[in-house]
Amino acid sequence: MDRQRRKGSARLSNSSSPSLNELLEMQVSRRHTLRGGLGLAASTVFAGAGVSALAGCSDSNGGGSSNIPSELKFASVPGSNQDNVTIVPEGFNFQILAPWGTPIVGSLPAYAGDGTNTAADQAQQVGQNHDGIHYFPLNDSEKGLLVMNHEYTNSTLYAGDGRQEDENGRPTDVDEVRKDIRAHGVSVIEIFRNGTQWEIDTTSPFNRRITVETEMEITGPARGHELLRTPFSAGTRTRGTVNNCGKGDTPWNTYLTCEENIQGYFVTSDANPPRATARMGINENGFGYFWNAVAGDPSETAGEFARFDVSTGGGWENEANNFGWIVEIDPKQPNLAPKKRTAMGRFRHEGCQPGRIRAGEPIAFYMGDDARFEYLYKFVTADAWNPNNPDPDMLDKGTLYVAKFSVDGTGEWIALTLDNPTLAAEFSDMGELLVNTRTAGDLVGATPMDRPEWTAVDPNTGEMYVTLTNNTRRETPSDDAGENAANPRTPNTHGHVLRLRENGDRAEATAFVWNNFVFGSPASADENFNLSGLTADNEFGGPDGLWFDPRGVLWIQTDNGAPLDYGDDPNDQMLAVIPARLGSDSITAENQAQLKRFFVGPSDCEVTGVIMTPDLKTMFLNVQHPGGSWPLNNGTARPRSATVVIQKDDGGEII
Ligand code: FEO
Ligand code: CA
Ligand code: CA
Repeated sequence: MDRQRRKGSARLSNSSSPSLNELLEMQVSRRHTLRGGLGLAASTVFAGAGVSALAGCSDSNGGGSSNIPSELKFASVPGSNQDNVTIVPEGFNFQILAPWGTPIVGSLPAYAGDGTNTAADQAQQVGQNHDGIHYFPLNDSEKGLLVMNHEYTNSTLYAGDGRQEDENGRPTDVDEVRKDIRAHGVSVIEIFRNGTQWEIDTTSPFNRRITVETEMEITGPARGHELLRTPFSAGTRTRGTVNNCGKGDTPWNTYLTCEENIQGYFVTSDANPPRATARMGINENGFGYFWNAVAGDPSETAGEFARFDVSTGGGWENEANNFGWIVEIDPKQPNLAPKKRTAMGRFRHEGCQPGRIRAGEPIAFYMGDDARFEYLYKFVTADAWNPNNPDPDMLDKGTLYVAKFSVDGTGEWIALTLDNPTLAAEFSDMGELLVNTRTAGDLVGATPMDRPEWTAVDPNTGEMYVTLTNNTRRETPSDDAGENAANPRTPNTHGHVLRLRENGDRAEATAFVWNNFVFGSPASADENFNLSGLTADNEFGGPDGLWFDPRGVLWIQTDNGAPLDYGDDPNDQMLAVIPARLGSDSITAENQAQLKRFFVGPSDCEVTGVIMTPDLKTMFLNVQHPGGSWPLNNGTARPRSATVVIQKDDGGEII
C-alpha cells in the first residue's frame, strides 16, 4: 500500500453517498421524525444518551449495568514492531500456556523443537495457530476447560526447512500430510490455577483433539441432502472441521467453532464448477495444501486424501459442501460427535456470538462471512430459550437472515427462506438454499461488506458490534453495493467496527438501526481518513477478534497488514473501551482517550481470541503465527502460537 496515496485519496463519500456526519445527522433527524414509529430502540439508540439511558436497558438474564467499570484503570501501552516482545500494561503480568505441540492426550508425546514430531504425535498435541477461545468452568474460576480453535498450519510444522514436495509443489510424504490434518481443528484442555499460575491437567478425561479426521454429524435442514452425499456418507456424517477461526458459545454451555476459509483445502479442475463450489471460491490450487496429492497411498482409508479434490467425475464432488458450517461441540461430553448445524448457513464463517440471552425469548446468533464484499448474517432460533429444560438441538430450527444496510442509518434483516418468491424460484428446498447461502444473499440484495469478522453483543444494551477488518478492493462507496454508507472508506485499508441495535431490542426483529463505532487509522492520517481521531495511544488497523466481557468492556483485537505510525509492519494488538461510558455515539476526537491499547504481541503475529474466568481475574488470549522465536525468545527456536494468560499483579479484577 502506497501510504501517501492512501492518505491523500481516501475519502468518505461521493455525491451519491452521505458522509458519516451526514449519516449521523440523518439518524438524529429520524429520531425526531420516527419517535414512536420504530419504537424505543430507534428513538433512543445511539442518541449519545450515555450511561444512564443505557443502564435502563439492562435486564436480569442477559447481563446488567450494575458492574459497568467506571473507567479503564490502566495506562495505554505503546505500540511496537519488535521481535519477541509481548507487552501488557504496568501492574499486569502474563504467562504462556498451551503452545502448539503441547501434549494433552494419550501417551503425551513431548514437543520436539525441531519439527520431528510425527502425525501420531500431533494427534495427541495442541494444534497450530490458535484462534477463537472459550473457558467453560468446572470449578468456577479455579478449574475449567479451555477450548480453542487451530485455524491453519504453516511451514514450522515440518522437520527441516519445510514440507517434502515434488517439483510441482505437491506434498509427497503421507505422514506429513496427516500431521498437517491433525494440527488443524480444536483443542479441549482442562486447566487449573496453581497459586498464581495456570497449569494443564494432562490426566483429564475431557482433554480432546478434534481434527480434520474427526467424525461429525450433519444436522438441520441440509442433513441427508443430495448435495452433501459422498462415498463416505449419505449426507448425514462427515470427517473433520477445517480453518476454524472465530467462535461462539451457547447458554447451554457448548462451543461453536466456525469454518472459515474452506476454499483453501479443496481443489477442482472443473472449468465451470457447480455454484456451491464456485461461490465459495474453490479453485485449482486452494492455499497449496494439496492433501489430495497423496491419494492412493496404500495407507489411505475411505478417500481420506482423495476427498480434497472435488472435481467432477472424481466421486467427491460434494465433499466441500460438508464444510463451511457452524460446528457445535459439547466440551463436557468428550465422546459426543461434533454437530454441523446447517440451519446456520454455509459461508466463510468467522464468528458466531449470541445476542442477549433471555428466558422465554428466542436467541439470535450474529455471524460474519469474512471475504471482501460478503455479508453479515443472523440466525434466530425458532424456539424460546428455556433455561430449565435446554434443548441441545436448538440450533437445528430457526431462521437465517442476511443484513441490508440503508444510508439513513436503518437496516433490515432479510429472511433466507422459501417464503421469498425469488428464493423459491431458485432453490427447490432449504437444504439446497443453505448449501448455497451466499447465492441466496446475492439474490435478495444483501449489503456487501468490508470483510465481516467477529461479532460481539454489549450485555448492557444488546447492541451488536461487528468488525469489518478491511477491504482494499473497495474503490468507490458504490462498489458492488449501490449506496454503502456502512462501508464508507475507499479503499478501506484499516477497517472499522460497526454496531447495530435491533428494533424493540428483540432477537427476532427484522429491522434495526446502525452506525459505525470506530475506524482504524494511523494517528497521523488526516481527518478524512482518521475519522475517529485516533492517537498514538490507540491507533490500530485490521479489527478482527471482538468480545464483550460480562461487564460491558469491549475488547478489540487486530489482524492488521497496513502501516501505522509506529511501523510499516506494526505488531498486532488488543484494545479496550467501555461503550456504555462514552458520552457520544461513537469514538471521536473528543472521547478517543477512552479507547486504550491493552496488549501488543510479538512481530508477525495476529492477536485473536479472548475470554476471562468468571471472576474476571484471569484473561486468556491467543497469539497466532508469531515470528521470531516467540515465546522462547532465544533467537533460534521455532515460533509457536500460544495462549497468553494475563493477570493483575495484585490478583484483582482485570482493569
Ligand atoms: Fe480467520 Fe477472518 O480471520
Ligand atoms: Ca479472524
Ligand atoms: Ca483476519
